[in-house]
Amino acid sequence: MDRMRAIECQALGAVDSLTLVERPLPEPGSGEVRVRVTAVGLNFFDTLMIAGRYQVRPELPFSPGGEFVGVVDAVGAGVSAPAPGTRVIAYPGYGACREAIVVPASSAVAIPDGIADEAAAGLLITYGTTLHALKDRAAMKPGETLAILGASGGVGLAAIEIGKIMGATVVACASSAEKLQLCADQGADTLIDYSKDDLKTALKAASETGIDVVYDPVGGDMTEAALRALGWKGRLLVIGFASGTIPKLPLNLTLVKGCSVHGVFWGRFMEEEPEAFAENTRQLVAWCEEGRLKPHINAVLPLEKTVDGLKLLAERKARGKVIIKI
Ligand SMILES: NC(=O)c1ccc[n+]([C@@H]2O[C@H](COP(=O)([O-])OP(=O)(O)OC[C@H]3O[C@@H](n4cnc5c(N)ncnc54)[C@H](OP(=O)(O)O)[C@@H]3O)[C@@H](O)[C@H]2O)c1
Repeated sequence: MDRMRAIECQALGAVDSLTLVERPLPEPGSGEVRVRVTAVGLNFFDTLMIAGRYQVRPELPFSPGGEFVGVVDAVGAGVSAPAPGTRVIAYPGYGACREAIVVPASSAVAIPDGIADEAAAGLLITYGTTLHALKDRAAMKPGETLAILGASGGVGLAAIEIGKIMGATVVACASSAEKLQLCADQGADTLIDYSKDDLKTALKAASETGIDVVYDPVGGDMTEAALRALGWKGRLLVIGFASGTIPKLPLNLTLVKGCSVHGVFWGRFMEEEPEAFAENTRQLVAWCEEGRLKPHINAVLPLEKTVDGLKLLAERKARGKVIIKI
């Protein structure tokens, strides 16, 4: 087969405009491998990229899909590993919603067969961001209290699982009882419904000395409310702005609490600190193999239903990971 199916964004806008096309199979260049994609993990930022509202703006046309699992089927000049037949995961940032993709050999991480495609496809971004945030940015310690906003979403659920592994008391915050039930099932200790309860008051009630770490992928008004509930030397982790609003914060709050605000940018961490990134990835693969991480899969859809998968994320309906199985 020298052709493949691909989902393409040919003009920026709503996810409905994506089209299924046929393209020639790409050939790997020097230092590259071609991977037959078996599953893709979708993320909220895919919807932003398609709308032209993300910090990364690929040239048109492009395929969405920032992370995937697949099997290497051709290697370019100078590549000794991974060899053809190796099952790998990788984070190209975009381009994975297609039957085959070419990536640098150095970016493809071999993954044990015991980890199912559905779990492997979504392992890198949500868990990778979260481990980097909680370990490298917040230096979270066992016994600390971790509050997670948007806790039933992709990165939110990952934060519940990794927070528990790291020994934190986890306060999950989300917008419905049904979303919070999922958070409880994934191990959250305390639940806050911020569609009904005042977030700052509820967070203060959840910890006598104040929250130690806030994990915030939502932004908007939630951020200041959560910052106000931090305790002495608390840390606010800025993960993203799913609400669509980038908040501005009164800096006097950081002074009176001796607290700090940490930006978290996993994609750049990967480029700037490749060894720390590789160590974190090895840790995640090991936890997954040991069954300590059990990603909650919301939906598994075929390539031609990629738009439906992206709509779950864009319309605030996703509960955990949305996977495209090829
Ligand atoms: N910094 C990094 O390196 C990094 C890495 C990965 C992701 N991110 C960012 O993290 C954010 C979340 O990503 P994700 O893949 O976890 O998304 P997701 O699965 O869609 O979860 C986002 C959560 O945000 C809440 N939310 C509040 N207002 C929303 C709105 N208007 N639309 C959609 N969701 C809304 C929702 O929970 P409730 O309904 O309960 O409020 C939802 O569960 C995104 O902004 C993404 O770009 C950042």
